[in-house]
Amino acid sequence: MKIQIAPSILSADFGKLNEDIATVEDYVDYLHIDVMDGHFVPNLTFGAPVVKCIKSKKPLDVHLMIENPMEYIDDFAKAGANILSFHYEAVENPRVLINMIKERGIKAGMSVKPGTEVEVLEEFLSELDWVLVMSVEPGFGGQSFMPSALDKIKWLREKAPNLDIAVDGGINEETAKLCKEAGANILVAGSYIFKAKDRLKAIESLRG
Ligand code: DX5
Ligand code: ZN
Repeated sequence: MKIQIAPSILSADFGKLNEDIATVEDYVDYLHIDVMDGHFVPNLTFGAPVVKCIKSKKPLDVHLMIENPMEYIDDFAKAGANILSFHYEAVENPRVLINMIKERGIKAGMSVKPGTEVEVLEEFLSELDWVLVMSVEPGFGGQSFMPSALDKIKWLREKAPNLDIAVDGGINEETAKLCKEAGANILVAGSYIFKAKDRLKAIESLRG
């Protein structure tokens, strides 16, 4: 599968978000947008009104790290999300949410934290458009890659040869290589891209 890159704007400068996005958007495939509520994860970012202000030609991959994601699907749909990923750990009935997202013409994604077994996703794989494997504890950028994500990616790729499998957290040139070998086709990277001296070079090094 073609390797696709999704820069995480969590590591961009929020004071000039659209300018920062403009420096990378021609060279990437998606924009990864981390929504945190201070409950599901111990950090706060922003909600749908800010997502609505994001100007980009590229699809918006919105990663919801929030409790009760169901209550906010409509807001993010209206704000322009193209992919909406919620956390398995945050919902009681993932199937209801998958259907709700798809009914709005948006790709449905599900994410698992490092401590959650990947096998919980099995019964949903045929319905999901996207799986987001967390390779750090969600909440902050700039953490170190957890190699336990690699076995999860391998397992998913064996079960679902055509699924979009994204990996998020601690991605750099070396860990990207491991994730690609394991079967991931989408690499989310925040600090490695936005803190790089040469952002385009960083993006190219991820594609490999
Ligand atoms: C962490 C977020 C990630 C984060 C990754 O909770 O979901 O998307 O931005 O940041 P890096 O690439 O710096 O680990
Ligand atoms: Zn993320």
